[in-house]
Amino acid sequence: MTQDQKPDIPSLDLVFNLNEFEVIASKTLPKAVYAYYSSAADDEVSYRQNHHSFHGIFFKPKILVDVTDIDLSSKILGEIFQIPFYISATALCGLGNPSGGEIDIVKACGSTDVLVPQMISTFSSNSLDEITAAKVNEKQTQWFQLYVNGDRKITHDLIKKAEHLGLKALFVTVDAPQAGNREKDLRFKFSCANKKGPNIMKGSQTANGTSGALSKLIDTALTWKDIENFRTLTSLPIILKGVQRIDDIIKAAEIGCKGVVLSNHGGRQLDFSVPPIEVLAESVPVLKSRGLDKNFDILIDGGIRRGTDILKALCLGASGIGIASPFLYANSVYGQAGVEKAFDIIINELKLSMRLLGVTKISELTPDLLDLKGLYDRYAPSTYPFHFHETSFEPNATV
Ligand SMILES: Cc1cc2nc3c(=O)[nH]c(=O)nc-3n(C[C@H](O)[C@H](O)[C@H](O)COP(=O)(O)O)c2cc1C
Repeated sequence: MTQDQKPDIPSLDLVFNLNEFEVIASKTLPKAVYAYYSSAADDEVSYRQNHHSFHGIFFKPKILVDVTDIDLSSKILGEIFQIPFYISATALCGLGNPSGGEIDIVKACGSTDVLVPQMISTFSSNSLDEITAAKVNEKQTQWFQLYVNGDRKITHDLIKKAEHLGLKALFVTVDAPQAGNREKDLRFKFSCANKKGPNIMKGSQTANGTSGALSKLIDTALTWKDIENFRTLTSLPIILKGVQRIDDIIKAAEIGCKGVVLSNHGGRQLDFSVPPIEVLAESVPVLKSRGLDKNFDILIDGGIRRGTDILKALCLGASGIGIASPFLYANSVYGQAGVEKAFDIIINELKLSMRLLGVTKISELTPDLLDLKGLYDRYAPSTYPFHFHETSFEPNATV
C-alpha cells in the first residue's frame, strides 16, 4: 500500500504524534474495520481511563545535567534493545492493510536502526511462517502471543511451532476467556468469506462482530494448571499478558513465569478494570520488598501514546512498554512507512522528554522524578456512550 494509492490521506509529513494516526484511520478505514479496531467494552470507561491516568502524573525535572547524549537502551526479558518499547499484539492487521497485513510491521521493525520487538497475535492475518520469513534483519526479535484453544492439541502444536520458528517468548493472554462486550464492533456481522483472516478462523461461522468470531476460538476454562503445563512443553520464557492484581503477579513469579504484562487489553475486556499504570505503581514496591523483582519483568500496556507516558511507566519500574493501537492504525493507513514514522515520532519524543527531565539513561528513571498526587483521580465521565454520534444502526452491515 502506498500513499499514491490513497490520495485522500494526508502526507506522513503532516503527522506529528501517535494519536493522529487514529484520527486519520477513523476517517479513511472501512467503517466495520475501524469499529473492530477501536471498540472497547461497555461504556469504554477503562479504555479512556487507561490513557487519562497518565495525565494524573507530573514530572519533577532535574536541572543543570549534561543531556547531550541520550541512551535509550533497555533490557527486556534479558535481552538488550535500543528502545524501551515494543509493538503489542493486535489481531487481524490484514483487515486494515489487506496487502501488507502483519508483514509491513515486521519489515518496519527490522528496517530501523533500533530493531523494535514485535509481539505476534495468535489471530494474525498472515501465517506464522510468513511473519517469521519476512524478517529483514536476523537480529530482530519476535514474540508469540498465545490465545489458548479449547482443543489443547491445537495450542500445544502452536507453541511448538512458535518455538521452532525462532520466536523468543510466549505471552499467554489471560484477560480474555471471552471477548468483552464491544458494541461498536457488534453492530457489524463478521463473515470469514473473502476475509484476510488466520487459517484457524476459516471454519468459523458468521458472528456478530469480529471479536465474537475470534472469541469462539478461546477457551473459557484456562487455569493456572495450564500455565504450569505449558512450562513443561517449551523452554520459551512464559509471560502472562493481562494481569491486573498484585496477588496474581506474585503467583506468576512463584510458578516460574518470567514476567507479566500489566494490561486490561486496552479496555476491551472488563469495563471498570483498573488502569495498568495504577497497578504498576502499587505492585513494584511490594515485589521489591519480597525480592521478586529479580529476573522477573513487569511490562505494561494500555493508553500509552506519548514519550512522556513511557517515561512515567519506566520511572515506576516497568521494564518494557507495549503500544498496540497506534501502530495498528499507522500500518492500516500507511503500511510500513507509517509504522516507521510512528517509531521516529515516539523515539524523538522520548529523547526530548529525557533531556528536559534531566536524565540521560533509562536506568536514571526513578520514582522520585514523579509527582503522583493525581494518579488516583478517576475521570470516568458519565456521558454515554462516548461514540454516541458515530453509532450506526444500519441493519445487516457486514465486516
Ligand atoms: C484491534 C486490536 C486487536 C487486539 N488483538 C489482540 C490479540 O490478538 N491478542 C492480545 O493479547 N491482545 C490483543 N489486543 C490488545 C493489545 O495487545 C493491547 O493489550 C491493548 O490494545 C492496549 O494497548 P494500546 O492502548 O496501546 O492499544 C488487541 C488490541 C486491539 C486494539
